[in-house]
Amino acid sequence: TVLVVDFGAQYAQLIARRVREARVFSEIVPSTMPVAEMLAKEPKAIILSGGPSSVYADGAPSIDRALFEAGVPVFGMCYGFQLMATTLGGTVDNNGAREYGRTDLTVSKSGSTLFEGTPDEQVVWMSHGDACSAAPEGFTVTASTGQVPVAAFEDDERRLYGVQYHPEVMHSTFGQQVLEHFLYRGARIAPTWTAGSIVEEQVALIRERVGSKRAICGLSGGVDSAVAAALVNEAVGSQLTCVYVDHGLMRTGETEQVEKDFVAATGAQLKVVDASERFLNALAGVTDPEEKRKIIGREFIRVFEQAQAEIIAEAGSDGEDVAFLVQGTLYPDVVESGGGTGTANIKSHHNVGGLPEDLEFELVEPLRQLFKDEVRMVGQELGLPDEIVQRQPFPGPGLGIRIIGEVTRERLDLLRQADAIAREELTAAGLDRDIWQCPVVLLADVRSVGVQGDGRTYGHPVVLRPVSSEDAMTADWSRLPYDVLATISNRITNEVRDINRVTLDVTSKPPGTIEWE
Ligand code: XMP
Repeated sequence: TVLVVDFGAQYAQLIARRVREARVFSEIVPSTMPVAEMLAKEPKAIILSGGPSSVYADGAPSIDRALFEAGVPVFGMCYGFQLMATTLGGTVDNNGAREYGRTDLTVSKSGSTLFEGTPDEQVVWMSHGDACSAAPEGFTVTASTGQVPVAAFEDDERRLYGVQYHPEVMHSTFGQQVLEHFLYRGARIAPTWTAGSIVEEQVALIRERVGSKRAICGLSGGVDSAVAAALVNEAVGSQLTCVYVDHGLMRTGETEQVEKDFVAATGAQLKVVDASERFLNALAGVTDPEEKRKIIGREFIRVFEQAQAEIIAEAGSDGEDVAFLVQGTLYPDVVESGGGTGTANIKSHHNVGGLPEDLEFELVEPLRQLFKDEVRMVGQELGLPDEIVQRQPFPGPGLGIRIIGEVTRERLDLLRQADAIAREELTAAGLDRDIWQCPVVLLADVRSVGVQGDGRTYGHPVVLRPVSSEDAMTADWSRLPYDVLATISNRITNEVRDINRVTLDVTSKPPGTIEWE
């Protein structure tokens, strides 16, 4: 593994992704983790991320010098670079030489491992207040900018490297190449992290873990649960029952799709449970988003427990216990639910922070370390059809977190109609691959005055939330063509009684999240 030490900026996620794009496994650890603990993970390399602070700020995170003396290759970026410089005896000045955004970097390639094969002048993305003016002893300076004399340094002997800029961001034109040079040449790691290797590793792990016991897997119709189920099916097929819970918060056509696409591709055993009554009763009167998420998470588990009892009964007295619950939890779910590295809890994703405490199952989460694009690769590797693998994400709590206000049957019906229209038109316009997803949100407690025919209307607005994203950790609002927006708006306001306004959400993430709740 390659450890990405997170100094508290949002860049660590991105670095971890870029390392994996280079087909090398990586994981994020907090900068507060003791160095001994980091080294116990036997990392093949360590990357120090950027961070928000100056190395001279009060309480600025530091790093134990032992990290650089363990013989493990290290690559410092931005704040990580400055920490390396100060820790190893170089000089970092707080002299107002700040650079933010696009910057021209001049590279000196002689003796450079990082910059080989890249141009002498290249555009990079900077974000710093302090500047390194002298590299520590033993390092060769291999890049500079107008403001910063030491913008990169390298020591091939000790295999320590650093750059002042952010190679992980798209705007640093040769960033990925520089990162790969560090991984392949500096740290001498072979790029072996592929979909095939992930499948092989996970199948072996699942077999060992589940043994001869039985497992159930909640299918939501989404990519994640489908791929998780397919993996477990591959590993211990006859011991797995997939349970599709219709919680009444699904979109139009969802149930049929799961029955058709998933079962056809995997041949897995499927049990469909209609639990809409139960979920809607539990959600009655509830408006708080976190409370909704927790209720939905809890009810899922209760339904699985009931399914478990039924499966055991069906198998007869010699039926093995159903001990495992398979979930399609992803790395970003873990991190965003506060389970990763001590980051703040933004939302309780239904399958992480939303689990009840008295859970009877052991969890099997084969995707817990993967990003979405990796999950898609694994799905493809397992032979799942494009209809599943390329599906846009849909959250487990379904339309329950897209109705702002209390969730009722009537409101769900309204939202389902509006959502079906939006999806139909986006597909017809050929935009499905351009957008990450497009939640349609019903502002159920808001009413506004409209006019239709000769009459006054007093209906609800819906919000279109089309976003583009690489991994849902950050997102931008999609610039959909006006004529497509116009068609969606016309159709929704004409065809769905009680919806008389369509609005567009033009907020990026951050500061907004993708879903409204
Ligand atoms: P947010 O709203 O946090 O969403 O920006 C990021 C991505 O995660 C999806 N999402 C969920 N998926 N269970 C899920 O399976 C959940 O509880 C959940 N909440 C959000 C959301 O649709 C987006 O793709």
